Amino acid sequence: MNIVKVSNITKTISKSVILNDISIDIEEAEIVGFIGPSGSGKSTLIKSIIGMEKTDCGSIMLFNKNIPNLDVLQDIGYMAQADALYEDLTGEENLKFFATLFSIKKSKLKDRINYTSNLVNINEHLSKKVSNYSGGMKRRLSLAIALIQDPKLLILDEPTVGIDPKLRFKIWDEYIILKNQGKSIIITTHVMDEASKCDKLALIREGKIIAKGSPDDIKKQFNANTIEEVFLRIGDDL
Ligand SMILES: Nc1ncnc2c1ncn2[C@@H]1O[C@H](COP(=O)(O)OP(=O)(O)OP(=O)(O)O)[C@@H](O)[C@H]1O
Ligand SMILES: [Mg+2]
Repeated sequence: MNIVKVSNITKTISKSVILNDISIDIEEAEIVGFIGPSGSGKSTLIKSIIGMEKTDCGSIMLFNKNIPNLDVLQDIGYMAQADALYEDLTGEENLKFFATLFSIKKSKLKDRINYTSNLVNINEHLSKKVSNYSGGMKRRLSLAIALIQDPKLLILDEPTVGIDPKLRFKIWDEYIILKNQGKSIIITTHVMDEASKCDKLALIREGKIIAKGSPDDIKKQFNANTIEEVFLRIGDDL
């Protein structure tokens, strides 16, 4: 079963084509990276996948169900590109609030808060108000929130902006653990070492997927030694 099945979606906003005939499948236990220049449509594609943006045509299925579907939301952890946090609440209160949106057993909640906040090194700041957090701390809290209900599918829109390399490596180790548990992850990033760690990449330019495959496949397709080189070439005429 495909965890995500996107078939031929197109989206136009006031006559400009934002997504152009996009198809992509994401399987169980797979980390898929959406890579492309700023404004190429990565966030719009992600928002379409979770049902936040309407598409003009095509179909999107999550866990074999058409979206939007409230039942599947329980299984999705989403981290938006812009943090959506309650600034007047503490980190812990934010985690608890978002946890109430999901069916998490009371006995498990404390464990989930400990696990997610430890993972992103925010545990010592949980009692501070979010208004006192730095940009990177807010990003980390958003990532903890995306993981709070132990979702089967994680959709992360630039999760590591403002996160230092050491923590980024620690978080990647955890992605691999989650993947080995059978979970699927969609991630957008401008950091090329992250792109190289994905199982599959979709290169997006001007609303179109111009190439997909493993990082090695993609490098071969572009006759490049690194993903960074591939990325630099996306900007050039193909
Ligand atoms: N609500 C909207 N109204 C008009 N244009 C929009 C809207 N949302 C997105 N766009 C346009 O759609 C295109 C894709 O935007 P999107 O945010 O998906 O890009 P992105 O690949 O996520 O970029 P970045 O790497 O900067 O996050 C851009 O040209 C943007 O201006
Ligand atoms: Mg974006």
